[in-house]
Amino acid sequence: MSIIPTKKLVFRVFRFNAETDYLPTYINYELEVTHEEVILDILNRIKWDIDGSLSYRRSCRHGICGICSIKVGGKAVLACKENVFQLVETFGEELLIEPLSTKR
Ligand code: FES
Repeated sequence: MSIIPTKKLVFRVFRFNAETDYLPTYINYELEVTHEEVILDILNRIKWDIDGSLSYRRSCRHGICGICSIKVGGKAVLACKENVFQLVETFGEELLIEPLSTKR
């Protein structure tokens, strides 16, 4: 029997509803994460298990289409390709998740 290593991490997620919010907010979600999960897995778990109002884009899940592009800790990444444990090595155990900036 093997034990899969996990870490308890905080995902600080950008939230904004144009119909009800004047300003964006950030909500913290605390999850137990395994070494094989990517950011898209985390977004799916938040949406499916915690908060169904979370919206994000995904399609191919193979790093081809680019539709899942998102910022983690200010760095643009593909949510379906970026391993959570590798991001923790760079940004620590609280990961900031935001949409891509529209500013150039
Ligand atoms: S879902 Fe297509 S690149 Fe991530």
